[in-house]
Amino acid sequence: MTDSRSLASRFPGDFLFGVATASYQIEGSTKADGRKPSIWDAFSNMPGRVHNRDNGDVACDHYNRWESDLDLIKDMGVEAYRFSIAWPRIIPEGTGRINEKGLDFYDRLIDGCKARGIKTYATLYHWDLPLALMGDGGWAARSTAYAFQRYAKVVMARLGDRLDAVATFNEPWCSVWLSHLYGLHAPGERNMEAALAAMHHTNLAHGLAVEAIRHVTPNVPVGLVLNAHSVIPGSDSTEDKAAAERAFDFHNGAFFGPVFKKEYPASLLEALGGRMPAVEAGDLEIIGQKLDWWGLNYYTPMRVTADTTEGAEYPATKAAAFVSKTVTDIGWEVFSPAMKSLVEELYRRYDLPDCYVTENGACDNTGIVNGEIDDQMRLDYYVDHLSVVADLIKDGYPMKGYFAWSLMDNFEWAEGYRMRFGLVHVDYETQERTIKKSGKWYRELAAQFPKGN
Ligand code: NOJ
Repeated sequence: MTDSRSLASRFPGDFLFGVATASYQIEGSTKADGRKPSIWDAFSNMPGRVHNRDNGDVACDHYNRWESDLDLIKDMGVEAYRFSIAWPRIIPEGTGRINEKGLDFYDRLIDGCKARGIKTYATLYHWDLPLALMGDGGWAARSTAYAFQRYAKVVMARLGDRLDAVATFNEPWCSVWLSHLYGLHAPGERNMEAALAAMHHTNLAHGLAVEAIRHVTPNVPVGLVLNAHSVIPGSDSTEDKAAAERAFDFHNGAFFGPVFKKEYPASLLEALGGRMPAVEAGDLEIIGQKLDWWGLNYYTPMRVTADTTEGAEYPATKAAAFVSKTVTDIGWEVFSPAMKSLVEELYRRYDLPDCYVTENGACDNTGIVNGEIDDQMRLDYYVDHLSVVADLIKDGYPMKGYFAWSLMDNFEWAEGYRMRFGLVHVDYETQERTIKKSGKWYRELAAQFPKGN
């Protein structure tokens, strides 16, 4: 096995190692204890949206197996667990009635973490919007931002005293562009106006939630998890470099800009400003409040060339060819130097607080043979990318922790169950969990760090 000792020696003793999951991807029990449907329940049950028409009805059955899953996390020897809270369990219609039984589940889960000495990193929104809110337009409606603020308040009042950190949103890029412009995630729209409305209202909801969290639980460090894109021009041509700059503004600036600079990128405003919803006086002040930390989710670089087609819509880019020959089973290029240049670029452009890598990992569908999963490709990916994080620390960047995506195989959104990201294999027939080779290696790495800092 690749030596974890020399890698471990490159991290400070208080560096946090964790594993991550998300509610809809693992919980199942979508009708239990008063939960109402989310947009993902509806989307995954529509024909042609999710591979094999898989859905989250059962998933990893974590809602019933949470205790043994927490035992598994403890057994992995990691110090922290990043999970998300399902809004449709807490306020099933999005507004109105609060469902105590939903809160009870997370109460038990959080107490279960504490009893095992596991730190709790909660995310408030990992894409399971209560379906009822679509009646008002979902994220395209400004009212959804205020509904989210109330949900944040309710969660923090009940659970906040035992959270080590909270994130408002996970990957707004996905819940905005992928969901409202590219149509690949729920609610599956392909409409620039809707996407721009979702962008601003998500940013606003983030800011409103930060206000609520600070009011209810001023001591809980609050952050935002962003899947920043490492945008690399496909060639040295002026056109491709300009295309990469536009892509940076569109894919990163749409979120980093308002949150860390209180402004939308100039090129985005110039191209699309007229189609944006109203940005009301005071919105950018709310959105741009200082955060205690931010989370980076990184998997793969984004290579772009200019799309010179007449009338091509901003940011007018096309995907460029991969450079690295290593590609994961989901078809994503493996290229760790992009993670390093991305972090450098982001700290150069924005005034960013401490960073946690809140997701990183590889899709490797290697199956079980004689009870073992020999997922060497995933293991190599972890070694490669953790080594980049160590380099960043050496260069003085405030990298404080790392969460592997994911604890276990789970519902991979539009890909259903066929794409596996877990350190632990899940047999969906029996719900049996088996630690993969990569999981054993991660355990060995984590074991070298003292717990309870
Ligand atoms: C990002 C998302 O946050 C997570 O839900 C997803 O499973 C992984 N990336 C892998 O695609």
